[in-house]
Amino acid sequence: MKRLRMRNSRVDLIIQLKLAMTSSNDQFEHVKAVILSCHGDTSAEEKMNFYDTWADNYDQDVSVLEYHAPVFASKTVSSHFTGERKSARVLDVACGTGLLKKLGFEHFVGIDGSKAMLEMAKNTTMYQDLKICMLGSQPLPVDHDAFDVVIIVGGLSVGNVPVKVARELCMATKTGGYICLTTRSNQDNLAYKACLEQELKTLEEQGLWRRVQVVNVDQWERAVSHDEQGYIPGAVYLYQRL
Ligand SMILES: C[S@@+](CC[C@H](N)C(=O)[O-])C[C@H]1O[C@@H](n2cnc3c(N)ncnc32)[C@H](O)[C@@H]1O
Repeated sequence: MKRLRMRNSRVDLIIQLKLAMTSSNDQFEHVKAVILSCHGDTSAEEKMNFYDTWADNYDQDVSVLEYHAPVFASKTVSSHFTGERKSARVLDVACGTGLLKKLGFEHFVGIDGSKAMLEMAKNTTMYQDLKICMLGSQPLPVDHDAFDVVIIVGGLSVGNVPVKVARELCMATKTGGYICLTTRSNQDNLAYKACLEQELKTLEEQGLWRRVQVVNVDQWERAVSHDEQGYIPGAVYLYQRL
C-alpha cells in the first residue's frame, strides 16, 4: 500500500513537471510569434504601433526570452564610471519600459518613440523626465554636452533606431562621459551591425570619442527566428566622449 502511494506521488510529480515544461514551451512559442509579427525592416509607424501594443506584456515576454541586455549594459558602464553617481545625469535612449539597472545612479531621463512604453517607464518612478521622440526622423530632444552617461539598449537594430543616431548620442554626452550602445549579432542584424560599427569608427576617427570596451556576449537572448536555435549573440560597446 505504502509503495503504491509512493509510486502514485512520483507519477504526479512527473505529470506536473511535464505540464510545467509544456506551459513554458507554449509561453516561448507565444513570445516568438509576437516578435516575429514585427521583425526586420518594417516602417517606423508599424514599429511604434507594435511597441504600443506590446508595452503591457513587454517585461513578462522578454523575461521568457531571457533578455538580459539592460543588465549587461548597466554593468559595463558601472565597471568604468568613476565619477559621483548620485549627481550624474543618465540619458536612457529607447528606454522602453525602464529595465535599466540603477547601480547607484539616481538621475535618469528617458526617451522613446512609443507612448505606451513611456507610460510603463513612468510607472517605475525611475525617470525624472520622459520624452517622446521618433529617433532618426526627429532630432534627439536634449542639449549637447548635457549627460554623464548616455545609454541605448535594445534600440539599435534593423528596423528600429537608425545608425546615424549614434552621432547625436555622442553629442549629448559631456566631455569625459560615457556612451554605451548594444546591438544583436545574429543573422538578420549583421548588415545593420556592420553599418553601426562603421559609424562608431567614423566618430572615433573624427576625434569625438574613444573606444573603451567591446563586450561580445554569446547568450544574448533566446533565438526567435525560424533558422536559428538556442541563443543568439549580441554586443555591448562602450565609448568615452573626448
Ligand atoms: C527592444 S525595446 C528596448 C527597450 C529597453 N531599452 C530595454 O532594453 O528593455 C526597443 C525600444 O526602442 C524603441 N524604438 C525603436 N525604434 C525607435 C525609434 N526610431 N525612435 C524611438 N524609439 C524607438 C521602442 O519603442 C522600444 O521601446
